Amino acid sequence: MTILASADSGSIARAAEILREGGLVAFPTETVYGLGADATSAWAVARIYDAKGRPSFNPLIAHVANIAAARREAELPEAAIKLAEAFWPGPLTIVAPAAPGGSVCELARAGLPSVALRIPDHPVARALIEALGRPVAAPSANRSGHVSPVTAAHVAEDLSGRVDMILDGGRTTAGLESTIVSFCDAEPTLLRPGAVAREKIEKVLGARLAAPERAEIMAPGMTASHYAPNARLRLEAHEVGAGEAALDFGGRLTALAAPGAIALDLSPKGDLVEAAANLFAYLRELDARGADKVAVAHIPERGLGEAINDRLRRAAAPKV
Ligand code: TXA
Ligand code: MG
Repeated sequence: MTILASADSGSIARAAEILREGGLVAFPTETVYGLGADATSAWAVARIYDAKGRPSFNPLIAHVANIAAARREAELPEAAIKLAEAFWPGPLTIVAPAAPGGSVCELARAGLPSVALRIPDHPVARALIEALGRPVAAPSANRSGHVSPVTAAHVAEDLSGRVDMILDGGRTTAGLESTIVSFCDAEPTLLRPGAVAREKIEKVLGARLAAPERAEIMAPGMTASHYAPNARLRLEAHEVGAGEAALDFGGRLTALAAPGAIALDLSPKGDLVEAAANLFAYLRELDARGADKVAVAHIPERGLGEAINDRLRRAAAPKV
């Protein structure tokens, strides 16, 4: 059931409570409506991908309350701070290396070593982030492949029944997504043109924005900088070979593994949202425990299974 509420202090407090419990809340920003979840919880973030019907785990923007919060999440170079001071709150997203003590979970970053941050310029969005007291991960609040919503009615058309609450704050003003600038390479790079014009950004930087590598702009979730495990993965396994660890789904491989073998089950009860929430952590754990060959169970290609399989196929591909 989706609660549709006009945004006021009472409904915003309720929305923050829903987020704290791992729920999904669509909320207005100055650009488009966002589909929000607690950015520090892989469980909550997995539900975003599920609700959107995304075929892969695209990295999400973490919306923060202030520059101090942004600095806790990312290593922001001087030039990024300049942009933040000039354009935040506002429709600019800054991508930078994730800070060691940062709280945005790996699933929200889609396994990347970087994190995307912005402070939205909308009273409802800001009140919600402040009430939660944590970063809010939010892609645009539309089903994958649909256009970004600028009214609560658009959100309801796409996501009614798939989110816990929609906060109605009227029509958004920009209607165009935020401009995304990355500080992960030698020069600041324009990853996505958006509501802040390139010229304005270049003026503040006193420098030109570089163009991204083609692959990166088309599919930032697919770049080589993604975390890839050291272990060799064998997908669609029906048994666990000698010396293999198991990455299971639904308990079948675990039952077949030799006693003492490493066996991690993405979801013993066969829940794809749970499996997505555990995926990155379990790949890391396999490495940490020294697994060098891993038998991976069949994951059904429905719902979040498509994104999980996409990620596993990349992780299994020969390394270059
Ligand atoms: O205006 C906006 O930006 C809206 C509102 C809700 O804030 N959000 C939005 O989110 O447009 P979404 O998920 O539709 O687009 C976010 C973009 C994606 O293209 C994603 O690939 C990119 O940000 N992105 C996020 N993290 C990234 C990272 N670490 N590196 C490169 N690109 C990243
Ligand atoms: Mg979008």
